[in-house]
Amino acid sequence: MDEIEPFLVFGAPCIGEEEIAEVEACMRSGWLGTGPRVARFEQAFAAYRRVQSGQVAAVNSCTAALHVSMIAAGLEPGSEVITTPLTFCATVNAIEHAGLVPVLADVDPLTQNIDPAAIEAAITPRTRAILPVHFAGRPCAMDRIMEIAQRHDLVVIEDCAHAIESEFRGRPLGTFGHFGCFSFYVTKNVVTGEGGMILGHDQELIARARMLALHGMSKDAWHRFGDTGYKHYQVLECGFKYNMMDLQAAIGLPQLAKVESHWKRRQAIWQRYDTAFGDLPIGLPGAPEADTRHGLHLYTVMIDPARCGMTRDAFLDSMNAARIGTGVHYLAVPEHPYYQQHYGWRPEQWPNATRLGRQTVSLPLSPALTDADVERVIATVRQIVLSAVAAGSPLAVGA
Ligand SMILES: Cc1ncc(COP(=O)(O)O)c(C=O)c1O
Repeated sequence: MDEIEPFLVFGAPCIGEEEIAEVEACMRSGWLGTGPRVARFEQAFAAYRRVQSGQVAAVNSCTAALHVSMIAAGLEPGSEVITTPLTFCATVNAIEHAGLVPVLADVDPLTQNIDPAAIEAAITPRTRAILPVHFAGRPCAMDRIMEIAQRHDLVVIEDCAHAIESEFRGRPLGTFGHFGCFSFYVTKNVVTGEGGMILGHDQELIARARMLALHGMSKDAWHRFGDTGYKHYQVLECGFKYNMMDLQAAIGLPQLAKVESHWKRRQAIWQRYDTAFGDLPIGLPGAPEADTRHGLHLYTVMIDPARCGMTRDAFLDSMNAARIGTGVHYLAVPEHPYYQQHYGWRPEQWPNATRLGRQTVSLPLSPALTDADVERVIATVRQIVLSAVAAGSPLAVGA
C-alpha cells in the first residue's frame, strides 16, 4: 500500500530546542507576563535594526502596533490614510479602528508594492498619512514615498510585517517613516506566536505608544510587582491591552538570534524555486531592486489561466490534493464584502492589485522545510502546471 505523504503546512514555524528551553525557563521563573524577557527582546530587536532600545516597544501583534502608532501620531479623527489594496485586512482595519479613513492607491504590477504615482494621485486636502506595506519583504520605493510625504507634510507608518530583515539603500525598513510596525505571527520570519513591535525615531512617541499599549498606565506590572517594591501607577490615557508577554518573548529571543540563518535558508529555497520554475508558463517573483535587501518572506507565483490553462483556484486545489499547503497573499482588499458595503469600493478601481490577487499563490518557504520537502514542492508544481498545459490548447504553452 502507498504511504500517504505528510501534509506540508504552509508557513510552519522553525522551532528548535532553544525556543523550547527558553519557554520552559520562563515558565519555571514564575513570571509569564510583560517583564525582563520582553525587555531583552526589545533590546535585541533594537540592536538588530540598529536603533536605540528606547526607539522600540513590543506589543502583542502588528495589528496592535499599527493601531497604537496611528493614535500616538496624533492624527485628527477622519483624516485620510493612503495604503495599498494588496495587503492583509489588518492594515486597513487598523486605520478604521484609529478613527481614520483608508484610501487605497494601486500597486506596481512588478513589485506588487504601492505605486508612488498612485499615492500622489490619491492625495486630497484631508490626507494626513501614508501607510506603505513592504509586500513579501520587498522594500517599497522609500525614497519617492518619503519625498511625497515631506512635500505634503504627511506622517509615514511602514507596515513591516513581512520585512524584518529588509533594507532600502543600506537602511533597515521601519526606520524611514515616523513608525515601523513588525509582526511575529506564527508564519512570519521571526515568531513569538502572536506578537509585534513598534519602531520609531522619536523616543517620546514610542513611550506614548508603549503606554497606550497597556491601558494608558504609567507603569507596567514588572515595575509594579517587581523586586524593587510595589509602585503605584496612574492612568494617563484611555489605552488598550496590547502588551507582549514574557512567554512570547521567550520564543522570540532564540528566534531573533536565528533571523539571519533562517533568511539564508529561505534564500537557498528561493533560488532553487527560481531555477526549477524558470521554464514554466507561470509568473515568478522579480529580482530584488538594486541596492535593496529583500526579506524573502513570501515566494509568490502567478497562475494566469490564459498562459497555463488552469485557474489559480484549481491550482490551489491540486496542491492541496498533493498534501502541500499554500497561501493567497492577498485577495485584494476591495474584493471583501465589508469594504464594498462600508466604503463602496469595487475591485476594478485597483486593476493591478485585483489581477495579482486573483492569480497569486504563495508556495511553502519556511526555513523548517527539508531539501526533500523543497524537491517535493517543485515536482508537484511542475507536474500540475505541465499537465494543465498539456490538457489545454497548445497556444497556451509559453504564451
Ligand atoms: C501585511 C500585514 N500587515 C499586518 C499584519 C498583521 O499582523 P499580526 O497578525 O501580527 O497582527 C499582517 C499579518 O499577517 C500582514 O501580513
